[in-house]
Amino acid sequence: MKIRQRKLWIGVATFGLAFGAWGVWGRSASPGSDVPARLQAANAIDAQADADAQAMLERGRWVFRNASFRSQTFFGDTLKLHEAVVTVTPRTALAVGLKVDSDAVPPEVLATADLDDPATTVALLRLNAVVGLRGDFGGDPQGGLRSLGISCAFCHSTVDDSVAPGIGHRLDGWPNRDLNVGAIVGLSPNLQPLADRLGVDLPTARTVLASWGPGKFDAELFLDGKAFRPDGKTAAVLIPPAYGLAGVNLATYTGWGSVTYWNAFVANLEMNGKGTFFDPRLANAARFPLAAAHGLDDKRDPVDAITDKLADLHFYQLALAAPKPPAGSFDPAGAVRGKAIFAAKARCATCHVPPLYTDPGWNLHTPEEIGIDDFQARRSPTGRYRTTPLKGLWARTKGGYYHDGRFSTLGGVVDHYDRHLALALSSQEKADLVEFLKSI
Ligand code: HEC
Ligand code: HEC
Repeated sequence: MKIRQRKLWIGVATFGLAFGAWGVWGRSASPGSDVPARLQAANAIDAQADADAQAMLERGRWVFRNASFRSQTFFGDTLKLHEAVVTVTPRTALAVGLKVDSDAVPPEVLATADLDDPATTVALLRLNAVVGLRGDFGGDPQGGLRSLGISCAFCHSTVDDSVAPGIGHRLDGWPNRDLNVGAIVGLSPNLQPLADRLGVDLPTARTVLASWGPGKFDAELFLDGKAFRPDGKTAAVLIPPAYGLAGVNLATYTGWGSVTYWNAFVANLEMNGKGTFFDPRLANAARFPLAAAHGLDDKRDPVDAITDKLADLHFYQLALAAPKPPAGSFDPAGAVRGKAIFAAKARCATCHVPPLYTDPGWNLHTPEEIGIDDFQARRSPTGRYRTTPLKGLWARTKGGYYHDGRFSTLGGVVDHYDRHLALALSSQEKADLVEFLKSI
């Protein structure tokens, strides 16, 4: 009897919740969207999905910030990067773009830290306060630095500089355009294994690393060995944001695959983590000579420290929305006019379809369509460029625009389209378009 009463009560409560949710649906639908802002869990399955989503998000956040996927076997044990890092002062570390997570450092330590003492660098690593660098102290809080790995946050997080330049709260998903990956890796005492993987001598490997500069990395170098473009400039590309990717089909500048495809790719082939990776496209020795020679198309390490983290990592990344531009960072009236130009006269929205600002579906275009060379496109199995999702452009102005930063300003990008697509935009229209781009 009691059980039946409880069931009845649950039934009534569920109906009430569902009815309430329907009310929320009806009330909060914004003009132009038929989706409610929030829809509360109405039944047990909904509640379970909510709880699962929250747990995945939290685990994924941990993975994004902390998982090194056993990359210390490469950066530490092989290249011996940790041996160089213990001699580096925090001031030097900040100068090559490394960031300090102020929330991981007790305030009194932060206030008195000696930025000219390499011991402080080690202390920060012990606190897990150097964004994206994972020190291995062998489980001994007082022990020395034994090895060093990296996490996704190394390249795809920065800090808000709230304490000092380079020191503040973490900003997950924001590209670190100050980070000089080449200079940092170049500190390694034992670069020979890296040179061997590239099939070049040590001085050449050093030249390549030094050519990247701040905010750039070359994810295809270990596949095709192409370190320089035909014009002699570095083949490295700008570190993109890892925010604003929910709803975006293909990831990377050249659309290698989905976000989770790319996560597996990076963790295995770029971070040199231990795991499993399969992509028979990399067995194409004509396009990817190094990948084919090193069997990167079918990598199966005895230990897999990657695959069990992919689901949570994917989930977390999709939860990272593009940051909204702060008030005052653009001219609102110009942005309103620019929005109309973006949608109509300038034809931008044919590819950058709002609100995703990429093509729903197969979001790739030929180099000819966007009026640039095919060098980087041809380093990918797709041979094309992916329509960049444009939200949060304001938070990645350093280093310029397009995959290699060839346009240093948004005005330069707009001028390029104006010429290439023969848009005949007036200078006022161009300026308005730029204000709109800054506003999304
Ligand atoms: C050494 C720096 C570096 C590290 C570490 C790194 N990435 Fe990246 N990431 C890049 C660069 C550079 C690209 C652009 C690659 C390209 O298009 O050729 C990229 C591209 C991406 C993209 C595609 C973005 C887009 O706009 O489509 C995602 C997603 C991503 N990385 C996630 C991750 C995750 C997750 C990790 C950790 C498993 C990670 N990255 C580790 C440098 C890095
Ligand atoms: C034919 C499809 C297409 C059209 C039309 C198009 N774009 Fe693009 N857009 C792309 C592709 C593809 C890229 C990536 C280029 C690269 O990274 O080399 C891109 C990149 C960009 C970027 C650089 C984003 C970044 O973070 O580097 C901006 C800004 C941009 N487009 C704005 C516009 C504007 C404004 C218009 C209209 C005048 C426009 N696009 C029209 C396909 C298109």
